[in-house]
Amino acid sequence: MEEIKTIKTQEDAIKLLNIALEHEWAVSFEYTIHAYSMPKAKFFYEDPIMKHRTDARAQTIQIGIDEMYHALQLGIIIAQMGGIPSFKTDQVMRYPKIMDNLKRDKMTEDMVTDLYQSAEFEEGAFPKIENMVWNISYDEVRHSRQFEAMMAAMKKEGAEEALCFQSRPENREKEEVQLLHEITRSENALLHQYLKYVLLFSEHQDLSQRLFKNSIDHMRHWDKNSGLLIKMGDVIQIENTVKDKNGVETSQSPMPAAYPGEDRLTVLETLIPAEEELIAKYEKLISLVEEKEIKEQLELHLALNQEHLFTDEWLLKNAKKIKGLK
Ligand SMILES: [Fe+2]
Ligand SMILES: [Fe+2]
Ligand SMILES: [Fe+2]
Repeated sequence: MEEIKTIKTQEDAIKLLNIALEHEWAVSFEYTIHAYSMPKAKFFYEDPIMKHRTDARAQTIQIGIDEMYHALQLGIIIAQMGGIPSFKTDQVMRYPKIMDNLKRDKMTEDMVTDLYQSAEFEEGAFPKIENMVWNISYDEVRHSRQFEAMMAAMKKEGAEEALCFQSRPENREKEEVQLLHEITRSENALLHQYLKYVLLFSEHQDLSQRLFKNSIDHMRHWDKNSGLLIKMGDVIQIENTVKDKNGVETSQSPMPAAYPGEDRLTVLETLIPAEEELIAKYEKLISLVEEKEIKEQLELHLALNQEHLFTDEWLLKNAKKIKGLK
């Protein structure tokens, strides 16, 4: 992560916000992946903020969602200031042991708290942004304490060596597992692609809220699919990953860094074939899968993507009805 200490000009402010944004994209992805790689309702801890016995996996997902909201806040401000929100991400990692992932997550939180809290704004230059940065930093302080409590609980239970789910080698030959990986990657990419347009059209609330709804549906599908992968004896993959001899995975580009479409028409024209392609993949997968429960879940995803396609097609047709609409 790059550092920027003193913020005087609009350019400095956009730079700081984009550095933060690239970090937030990476962690929202990384924490969710870490959570999806561990068992549900197995490791509980006493949450120091909520004062409640909490499932470490569920809370790690919740923290990932907090990070996505940070990204959204930062992206909207960047767009409103006339900057271009970055979709590049910092590096992400996954260790074979759950404990090592939590250690990294806590370390990341402390590092980003420092980035936010050490930014020096010239007095009176960007008061609202300065305030936002402080507010985000205290979410990071909370996250750090929560990860710390998760680690302490795992240590106490003697679960320090507990491993993440692994992919069964025979799954490499199974068409349905490989197709589900492909679909899951597309769901994540579409979730971010829709978010780009939410940022782009933040002024047009009717359009941005419809696109946001679709983005959230893709997030839910991504979440459910990662559970289905575990049922199939697999685990969610990270794109472009390099695995070292200790099984530690590192990726510099865990998801697409750019998405097409720059205005109302080109955006909507881009989304329609993307949804059609995803629908075709779900139809294929449903025909391959035999287990009833998995099939039914996939059918729900397919149905919502049909709804997205309907919405996107009408957004495009309606946009074309009005001359000069940008
Ligand atoms: Fe964050
Ligand atoms: Fe955080
Ligand atoms: Fe969709």
